Amino acid sequence: MSTFIVPLSADDAEKVVREKTALAKRLYEQRLFEHPFMLGLIEGRTPDNQLKAFIRNWYTFALEVNTATATVYHRHVSFFKTHRELENMFMSTIAEEFTVPGPGGHIRMMQRVGEAAGLSAQELIEAPLIPEARAWVDFQVRLLTEGTLAEIASDFICEGEFGHFAGIFFEALVSKYNFSPRSSEYFSEHFESDAAGKGPNTSSHGERGQALLRTLLREGLASERAGWGITYTIDITVAMFELLLDGIVKRHSSREENSQEVTPHEWPNIVKPEYDRLNLPNSFGAGAGGQNP
Ligand SMILES: [Fe+2]
Ligand SMILES: [Fe+2]
Repeated sequence: MSTFIVPLSADDAEKVVREKTALAKRLYEQRLFEHPFMLGLIEGRTPDNQLKAFIRNWYTFALEVNTATATVYHRHVSFFKTHRELENMFMSTIAEEFTVPGPGGHIRMMQRVGEAAGLSAQELIEAPLIPEARAWVDFQVRLLTEGTLAEIASDFICEGEFGHFAGIFFEALVSKYNFSPRSSEYFSEHFESDAAGKGPNTSSHGERGQALLRTLLREGLASERAGWGITYTIDITVAMFELLLDGIVKRHSSREENSQEVTPHEWPNIVKPEYDRLNLPNSFGAGAGGQNP
């Protein structure tokens, strides 16, 4: 962890924020908007079972990313109470996640997407995540609960780009998959809240990340952990999201799988390791002579 950091001038801090935002945008465009899952979705070619799998696996992420973000306020309360403008911005975005369009917040809209795709609330709540989705959820929770504020700000900058991803998703659901605008509202809402902002005096969730990083850089508080840091956080966040999409495509390759029941620990198309090739003895101590100690 870097402890002593030189404060940047306003111009230099702005330059870094612009560079990192451009990086997040470029990586989202290259790795996510161009992903076969998304290209197929835009053209209506992504099979229903993949779309359903995405929704089934996304519900847990949508819930836990918000509960983990709420802990950031407590963990860094000494910073926020001395930076009231950022505190306002941070609290209004958390409040939005938990209260728009009503009690329960964004996750209730996610339930509506699931129901439009034929998934019950129970199926979403109890979904056994594919390994790639588990990795995506746990990665985000760990970043938000252990990362430095600068790394978390970088994650929020990526959240701004997720708004554009959600906008593309919304258009595809409505125009190619016959979802109603209301049932797809989770995605149109995220375009507004994460990317566009919900009004002239309201920052988008991406802008919250930029404002936070700008202040940290100007005050010499942009700590980075060894092996992590601002740039890496943006890079790995997009890569982990890409991994989730890879997993969805890899494990749900054809329309025929629509009828396949997925139960815990029996994910479709999973590659099982071939232990027998290793020629291991049946038990410890059963080596030469087959004598157990
Ligand atoms: Fe949200
Ligand atoms: Fe958000």
